[in-house]
Amino acid sequence: MQMSTKPFALITGASSGIGLELAKVFAEEGYDLLITAEKGIQEASRTIEQLGAKVDSYEVDLSEEAGVDELIAFADSLGRPIEVAVLNAGAGVGGDFARETNLEDEERIIRLNCLSTVRLAKWAVKNMLSDGKGRLMITSSVVSVMPAPLQLVYGATKAFVHSFAEGLREELRDTEITVTSLQPGATDTKFFEGPGLPGTKVDQMKKDDPAKVARQGFDALQNGDDHIVAGNIMNKIQIAVNKFLPERAKTMATRSYGEKAQ
Ligand SMILES: NC(=O)c1ccc[n+]([C@@H]2O[C@H](COP(=O)([O-])OP(=O)(O)OC[C@H]3O[C@@H](n4cnc5c(N)ncnc54)[C@H](OP(=O)(O)O)[C@@H]3O)[C@@H](O)[C@H]2O)c1
Repeated sequence: MQMSTKPFALITGASSGIGLELAKVFAEEGYDLLITAEKGIQEASRTIEQLGAKVDSYEVDLSEEAGVDELIAFADSLGRPIEVAVLNAGAGVGGDFARETNLEDEERIIRLNCLSTVRLAKWAVKNMLSDGKGRLMITSSVVSVMPAPLQLVYGATKAFVHSFAEGLREELRDTEITVTSLQPGATDTKFFEGPGLPGTKVDQMKKDDPAKVARQGFDALQNGDDHIVAGNIMNKIQIAVNKFLPERAKTMATRSYGEKAQ
């Protein structure tokens, strides 16, 4: 069979939400894809193939170190250089850290949001370095630049990956590899089905369309931008205003999003 000559992109967390919409945009823009999720990836695969892409898919739990290594081995076995890696898989936990949340859930999202991202980025960037070029995008969040009481550990994982993306970009300045941090605000996905998140004010508010967030992320990646605050304009305004607010005021604002709606 003839090898496809299309560029090849990896997208994690592509079974739903922002990742699925990103995969659709990449397919429409002429990429073949390797997509992954913990479950439900076959259905996503069929949807994306209908847009003309050749799709490889892999179901794996990325909160486990062994799962990350399995995915790397699978990607290597395909024998196709990955030109774009979008490290998007992630999950959240809501609730009061001392009184409500479950430590196991929190440790799981640290492994998923942070450890799997670092492990996959190390592999992707080393391959990109030997190919001489590449683009990496990491989904962080608007909460990456402010403390997030009542989503405390989640917010800290997103601060970690945002800082990681910005720092890695600088280390790679003398190469043809770019790193982009995608910072969505509240987006209408099944993220809000996670532990402690249903019924919070942020869950009840009007959220952004994941297709819009994905298109903005794709464009920023193509431009080689360092970051993109995606979604509606209020997300950008919030981040801009935060720069001038005292720490306590920022924290009170983000806390209110995590409170239960009346
Ligand atoms: N929605 C928001 O308001 C928002 C705001 C800022 C940032 N983000 C970030 O955006 C990214 C995408 O989330 P989303 O909003 O699109 O939510 P989503 O619809 O729940 O998508 C999350 C994706 O990650 C995958 N995933 C979750 N746990 C996994 C695991 N243990 N192993 C492998 N894959 C796993 C899910 O696959 P399964 O379905 O198989 O679990 C799914 O494909 C996340 O990093 C999230 O933190 C979301």
